[in-house]
Amino acid sequence: MASLIASPSASRILVLGGTTEAGRLAAALAARREMAAILSLAGRTAEAAPSALPRRIGGFGGIEGLMRWLAAERITAVVDATHPFAARISVNAAAACAALGLPLARLTRPAWTPQPGDRWQEVADARAAALALGAAPRRVFLTVGRLTLDAFTVAPQHRYLVRTIDAPDPPPALPDLTLVTARPPFTAEAETALMREHAVEVLVTKNSGGAATAGKLAAARALGLPVVVIRRPEKPAADTFLTVEAVLAWLEAHRPPP
Ligand SMILES: NC(=O)c1ccc[n+]([C@@H]2O[C@H](COP(=O)([O-])OP(=O)(O)OC[C@H]3O[C@@H](n4cnc5c(N)ncnc54)[C@H](OP(=O)(O)O)[C@@H]3O)[C@@H](O)[C@H]2O)c1
Repeated sequence: MASLIASPSASRILVLGGTTEAGRLAAALAARREMAAILSLAGRTAEAAPSALPRRIGGFGGIEGLMRWLAAERITAVVDATHPFAARISVNAAAACAALGLPLARLTRPAWTPQPGDRWQEVADARAAALALGAAPRRVFLTVGRLTLDAFTVAPQHRYLVRTIDAPDPPPALPDLTLVTARPPFTAEAETALMREHAVEVLVTKNSGGAATAGKLAAARALGLPVVVIRRPEKPAADTFLTVEAVLAWLEAHRPPP
């Protein structure tokens, strides 16, 4: 496990990652000598993207485990740069920081919003998305992440085209399943071609936001297809920013006194 080496007066920062935004923040922090930072990943994907910062990988063991780790590493500030749908780690980070009196910031990306021509149906969660597909069999493009696929077993009548970064293991119990593994970014052109090739009738997506995976929304718009959009879960209150620069300024303002 990586740990932080820094002068005693430097900021000691934990970045909770697993996103493009966290990768960008990590690159910016690697250039700051006065801030020692470590990037934490859950270890969900088989191969983590390269990082300019030291990394630790795997869960902390709930709120208590995270509190123990923060105290042992003498962390002075936490940046939650996790995915908008990673709700538990954000709840844990907020609870652990509140208990230890540590400053907490969030780096996130704006949610997608429907554009003219979009045919969105917004739903609360994956089960609601599965039910929103209706009783009649349809050809569905499912882009909700490997760990959310099981929710669709309540609607086995559809033909599913499923795309994930790593193959689900075991695969979900869906009788008509075509699996594609690929890592973003995806262009609108490539998404349009994929949807055409598989004669997709409806797209299902989380409202993840960000440019890297927005191509499927443009493709659905161009093809006139309906989209079932899973709304973001609530995250606990924290100082929230949309840019790396804003987080760096916040970290500067929260440097421990010399
Ligand atoms: N959910 C998505 O759609 C999605 C999409 C892209 C990327 N990701 C990334 O994948 C990771 C896991 O997502 P999830 O939805 O499974 O999260 P989650 O439900 O919020 O977290 C489940 C557990 O995984 C561990 N964990 C999550 N993020 C961690 C991190 N950055 N460092 C160390 N441990 C972490 C924690 O375990 P302990 O309780 O043991 O500490 C947490 O309680 C997140 O880091 C997220 O940024 C998620």
